Amino acid sequence: MSKRTTVLFALLFSLALVGCSGKTVEESKSLKSTFANHNLKAGTCVSGAMISDEEQRQVLLDNFSSITMENVMKPEAILDKNKSIETGEIAVEFNDEALSILEFAKENNLSMRGHTLVWYSQTPSWIFYEDFDESKNLVTRDEMLERMETFIRKTFGLIDELGYTDLFYAYDVVNEAVMEDGRMRDCLWKDTIGDDYVWYAFYYANKYAPESIDLYYNDYNEQLKTSALIRFAETLVDENGNYLVDGIGLQAHLYTQDSLITYFKTFDKLSAAGFKVEITELDVGLGSWNNPLEPTEENLKKQGDFYCALLKEVFKRVDEGTLNMDAVTFWGFMDTASWRSEYHPLLFDDTLSPKIAYDRIVNELGNIE
Ligand code: GLA
Repeated sequence: MSKRTTVLFALLFSLALVGCSGKTVEESKSLKSTFANHNLKAGTCVSGAMISDEEQRQVLLDNFSSITMENVMKPEAILDKNKSIETGEIAVEFNDEALSILEFAKENNLSMRGHTLVWYSQTPSWIFYEDFDESKNLVTRDEMLERMETFIRKTFGLIDELGYTDLFYAYDVVNEAVMEDGRMRDCLWKDTIGDDYVWYAFYYANKYAPESIDLYYNDYNEQLKTSALIRFAETLVDENGNYLVDGIGLQAHLYTQDSLITYFKTFDKLSAAGFKVEITELDVGLGSWNNPLEPTEENLKKQGDFYCALLKEVFKRVDEGTLNMDAVTFWGFMDTASWRSEYHPLLFDDTLSPKIAYDRIVNELGNIE
């Protein structure tokens, strides 16, 4: 190719990329720019594997402005048994995967949601026993409160010591404590401390987290237990009656056959009760939980309809100021890497090609100002 043809080619190529808005096509068509039109961050969960794969890393960087660690900041990953035994108090360490994701976020200007501190699952049982030894007795309420405080203090302390505090805008302090009927779920936190363990978790988080990080109570089946969640969150107040919780995280593990009307009521009831709301783990499976459907053209179109209808209502409420929300986080982006891969719930298929739902979100919702 002659030099002149090359220049002409380069010119035509850049004209094709730059639309009339002056943005490149890629920029104007990404999830993050679609969400940014409504002052929302577009988030995804991440694992070390996702960021070390070049193609996945690129999709992530093109489309998302916020990340949540899928597993490596959960209690079982950050509570260090040997060091706790050695020092006689709860010890917190981040593993190499967590450290590499924190550094990746910093280098690429990504915001972070912290996930999660106090949870019944993925939490080692040794933290509840005398001398961190499961063959001994459960510790007393006072001892467990002290351990909870140490755990929360050291987690925020370590993030700060490593220089990553500024990345975090939200933290899931407690995950999944309330059942559909409004009762507290049984777990070792409740056995050792009592029903007020959630209150204390938020009390300590308020004590040690910087003001800039919003503190969230995060749960699933939120559309089925909205009233129970509100009644519960309303008990989490300080001595002056101020909420200890900044927001309610809605996991949004949904299915194409779910009722969206019910879901919108969840937004409205939580907003009316004065809470910030965030969608924290969005994925929309094909079919229903006991009837996963195949990714046929028809089913993928239905998934596109569902995602668009959901996000349109979110954007509308955020724009009119009736929903106080900072981010919508998807629980991953590639179907094969999803914890619910049999439902094909995400926006990119197994070959990392954008699905119908992705195209519809960026094309139909991308232009709303
Ligand atoms: C819950 C948790 C997440 C994750 C999913 C499954 O929703 O909050 O951290 O464990 O289950 O991946």
